[in-house]
Amino acid sequence: MTSMLKDWTEAHSARFQKEIMAFEHGLKDTGLFTDEALIELLNKHPKNMLDVCTMGAADSELYPNKFQTGDFRDVDGKVLLEAAKAGKVWINVRRGMNIHPEYKTVLDKMYGGIAEETGNKAYNANGGILISSPIAKVPYHFDKTETILWHVRGKKRMYLYPLTEKFIPDRAYEATLLSHLEDDLPYKPDFDKDATIVDFAEGQALTWPLNMPHRVDNQTFCVSVTTEYSTKESGMKNAAMIANATLRHRFGIESSYSKAGPVNRQIKSVFGRVIRKAGLAAKADTVDMVTFKVDPDAPNYVVNVEPYQRDF
Ligand SMILES: [Fe+2]
Repeated sequence: MTSMLKDWTEAHSARFQKEIMAFEHGLKDTGLFTDEALIELLNKHPKNMLDVCTMGAADSELYPNKFQTGDFRDVDGKVLLEAAKAGKVWINVRRGMNIHPEYKTVLDKMYGGIAEETGNKAYNANGGILISSPIAKVPYHFDKTETILWHVRGKKRMYLYPLTEKFIPDRAYEATLLSHLEDDLPYKPDFDKDATIVDFAEGQALTWPLNMPHRVDNQTFCVSVTTEYSTKESGMKNAAMIANATLRHRFGIESSYSKAGPVNRQIKSVFGRVIRKAGLAAKADTVDMVTFKVDPDAPNYVVNVEPYQRDF
């Protein structure tokens, strides 16, 4: 099996998941990310695994550029790709790297290479394909699991922020764990003076420490792959955070992850797993509402509709 890693050295292995670190990959050479290949992918991908989004108006200071869900069911993949190229549209082909055999082969080579280099055992990774528009922005957020961004086409700028309470408050972390849709964090423009800025070259991938908050500006039409996988560390932390949120919501008990010592964290983590299994965890239900349709005749390919619940 040939690896997808091009310039990986022992220094990369030492810094992997501990620092912000770039490396080169060979995804573009697979031919799976050309316009033709993406149109075919969009047409065969299950509709319930495809998200077509636009950005909301920046009417909220704390959560600017919020995603809005689109209805794309009667639109061909060719039009969807045109919409991403021309308009304010952002497409996430969820688990696109897993469910199609030709992409899965590549995903196995991506993580096979990393497993070989780092000596870690095989990863069970999920991979999504992001097709984004020149003016699409990914709002300030963090990822709950270890994530790698493999950039393939276009110009993309990423801002990464320190892992402290100021940038990622415990309460915000908990809130995102309780909802499968909301991953956004409160953002303030003055955060940017502490950001690390990365301008992606085509064929470059980036890794960063677990949960590091970030946001992305696409400066042109962009195609990227994001992969994520759970580790023992991310699983433990998430379970402990669920425990804290549940203690607060159901019993009014104040508890903080950042201030807790390792023993407290360990106990919380076990408690979190137990209550999650027992279905007792506090849960904030969110409904995914469709607010626009993709239409090739509309400006930016976006037509607003009376909101309705997504059922596809
Ligand atoms: Fe992310």
